[in-house]
Amino acid sequence: MRTKLTVGNWKMNGGLADNAARLGGLAGGWKAPAGREIAVCAPFPYLAQVQSALAGSAVAWGAQDVSAHASGAYTGEVSAGMLAEFGCRYAIVGHSERRQLHGERDGTVAAKAKAALSAGLTPIVCVGETLAERDAGATESVVIRQLAAVADALGGDLGRIVLAYEPVWAIGTGRTASPAEAQAVHATLRARLAGAGARDVAVLYGGSVKAANAAALYAMPDVDGGLIGGASLDAKEFLAIALA
Ligand code: PGA
Repeated sequence: MRTKLTVGNWKMNGGLADNAARLGGLAGGWKAPAGREIAVCAPFPYLAQVQSALAGSAVAWGAQDVSAHASGAYTGEVSAGMLAEFGCRYAIVGHSERRQLHGERDGTVAAKAKAALSAGLTPIVCVGETLAERDAGATESVVIRQLAAVADALGGDLGRIVLAYEPVWAIGTGRTASPAEAQAVHATLRARLAGAGARDVAVLYGGSVKAANAAALYAMPDVDGGLIGGASLDAKEFLAIALA
């Protein structure tokens, strides 16, 4: 069985005191059982705090976005090299909130994934359909199109990413894809990955995952873990999901 990876996406939440309590709970509470890994992706200003709070623990950490560019006149952006310089492992790219609220298109997502890999980070590439796309029977074509853009840009490096399937209608809504619905899309993504020589890429599920529903999702053969939003803000709940 593949390792189960559980990644917290704090989104734009947190504060120095809250973070300290949450990070302390994770660093102290995570015993790194075999076959399980966890990571947290925090807002940029808190990454230095995350780095020092998690030093010496088995909890990895990452950013929630990264620039497609290496350096230069890109006001407000943060490069993969800057993140890598102080120990960042992961960068989420193509989250649906970036695609929907910031107009990120498939090509930009692919360029960000490439920039992350070039600096030694692992991009967590998010794909997922909207409710309208699902209702129109377009789930498969949407997620395959989103993955194909990244596969084309990365070529033989595709095997170095983590992929996250996050149906947009399940994010922050309390409405989770059923284990069977998630498995069906994960199997489609796995087949596309395998066709590109990247069968072993971890494929995470995201969208209203909580301790109460994680075990059923994690039991699916092509679900290799989760990308957890709201429930990652509670250290105990997050650790329970990671052990599901
Ligand atoms: P959620 O968010 O767990 O709050 O639904 C998941 C995500 O957006 O990564």
